[in-house]
Amino acid sequence: MLEIKNLEAYYGNSRALQGINLKIETGKFMAVLGRNGVGKTTLFKAILGLMDRCGGEIALGGDRLDQMPTYKRAHAGIGYVPQGRGIIPTFTVRENLKMGTFARTGNGSKTYDDLVFEIFPVLREFLDRQGGNLSGGQQQQLAIGRALLTNPKIILLDEPTEGIQPNIVEQIEQAIMTLNKVHGITIILVEQDIDFARRASDSFVIMEKGRVVAEGPIKSLTDNLMHKHMAV
Ligand SMILES: Nc1ncnc2c1ncn2[C@@H]1O[C@H](COP(=O)(O)OP(=O)(O)OP(=O)(O)O)[C@@H](O)[C@H]1O
Ligand SMILES: [Mg+2]
Repeated sequence: MLEIKNLEAYYGNSRALQGINLKIETGKFMAVLGRNGVGKTTLFKAILGLMDRCGGEIALGGDRLDQMPTYKRAHAGIGYVPQGRGIIPTFTVRENLKMGTFARTGNGSKTYDDLVFEIFPVLREFLDRQGGNLSGGQQQQLAIGRALLTNPKIILLDEPTEGIQPNIVEQIEQAIMTLNKVHGITIILVEQDIDFARRASDSFVIMEKGRVVAEGPIKSLTDNLMHKHMAV
């Protein structure tokens, strides 16, 4: 479904990704793992067309995205929950959610309008509250809700449990699993919480210095691999 071939990405003249090959089938869940600064967020930015310069190929459902501007990649069905959430603090919850709807194509693809409030009822309750006045966990729910309102085929989630109070972490993890297991949305997750990554994922990749250094079905993620490539 999403296929990436020989992806390279640059910040100015500095190469942050090289030779990345990835493939994820429709409805599957992939974890992207690795220490700080290895290029996980950069991989997402490259998929979305947010880098200065990229090389290689990115295709979604067989259609090439790599020459498209970011808004067209969103139209094509890529939803994004950025690291740090990217909520607009002076916009209300309603306005932040509306930002997601701007990325729709209106081509009659599946919509998740009701699902957003079903999985995150607090968002309905706080529709008129400013985004910046929500707790970290509520902001994360808002960021996921905003991504859902783009009517995505795939969602890229960058560390959605980072810095969130433990009681809300569980709700967020549950919601992410529901999106995948019940609603069939394909997910790529960057996550430091290995237990969650193991529970949720079908497959994994581990990155180091802008490359993929290990990958496979999640069952093959051994303690040995984790010790070698991760801060655990
Ligand atoms: N805006 C930028 N300009 C220049 N270099 C950058 C920029 N953002 C990231 N980098 C560099 O690119 C490399 C990959 O960074 P990236 O943010 O993708 O890592 P990450 O794996 O997401 O890390 P973390 O786990 O801390 O979020 C790092 O060496 C980082 O210093
Ligand atoms: Mg990152």
